Amino acid sequence: MNRWISPELFAAFEAERTSAHRLFTSPDVWVERLGQDVLISFKNDAVRDAAADGVREWAARTRFQIGRVFSRFLPRQNAERVAPVLMEGDAEASLHAVVMERGVRYGIDFGAGYSAGLFIDQRANRAFIRQRAPRRLLNTFAYTCSFSVVAALAGAQTVSVDLSKKSLDRGRENFALNGLPLEGHRFLADDVLDVLPRLERRGEKFDAIILDPPTFSRGNRGRRWQVEEQIEELLTAALELAEPAASILISTNCTKLDRRTLERMARFALKTARRGGDFHSEPPLPDFPEGEGAQTLWLHLR
Ligand SMILES: C[S@@+](CC[C@H](N)C(=O)[O-])C[C@H]1O[C@@H](n2cnc3c(N)ncnc32)[C@H](O)[C@@H]1O
Repeated sequence: MNRWISPELFAAFEAERTSAHRLFTSPDVWVERLGQDVLISFKNDAVRDAAADGVREWAARTRFQIGRVFSRFLPRQNAERVAPVLMEGDAEASLHAVVMERGVRYGIDFGAGYSAGLFIDQRANRAFIRQRAPRRLLNTFAYTCSFSVVAALAGAQTVSVDLSKKSLDRGRENFALNGLPLEGHRFLADDVLDVLPRLERRGEKFDAIILDPPTFSRGNRGRRWQVEEQIEELLTAALELAEPAASILISTNCTKLDRRTLERMARFALKTARRGGDFHSEPPLPDFPEGEGAQTLWLHLR
């Protein structure tokens, strides 16, 4: 089975001004295009080298001009994650690049660590937020603030929360890359679990909330975050901040939490909060085989 994206799909991405997408997916290796550069994520050297050959063949078929090829090892433990390594191309060139998604610009930094700056499997959810055009967006676990950028482009005020000040700085750069002034946008370098009750005490309300936490992390005072144990608590706290007809994105990469489990947890949180809601998920992305990428669910409050 040929799991490289077709020349037709590549042409469709070019036409819609998207330069960040998957090129190839298999269980042990996947390949992303990020602007002119390519990133191979691999579980062993043999699949990495085969994917590098595949990139050259695919590029010849589609006339894609490869800039550089980076690769990164996919470890079992998060603690063993390392930054991508340059395999081919100019070692002197800047590790910074800019990619586009439906014309929206995002900064990439291959030297920043394991993740280069944009989670491409959230493309449809970003498009949904842009089209939903909220007035006030709360973006928790905001990373480089891509959801805040699309909401701001649609006219929203935004609050982005992340433990990492560096990631939020990159978020501000993403605003600048899209010509967005920072007025009306807050960037809180803090633990989501501490920020949500504070926002509630201040009576802040939002008509869109993004909940896309990592599987595991350590927050303020070394507090442990484990998504499958705490996602209900997170959702309950988010419901306190949600306006009557708010939309809430619930998203996770944790393989223990599939879409049905997320929906069951969300129904339980709704019942506890005495609120009603409907659910939807965006259709699968054309460059991701079914089941690949984050599990995501939108909750629309009634
Ligand atoms: C999976 S990424 C989020 C991706 C983001 N939603 C996007 O689409 O670009 C997880 C982020 O959560 C942040 N993080 C982890 N634990 C946190 C916590 N307790 N409070 C705030 N941010 C946290 C990390 O710094 C990281 O940037």
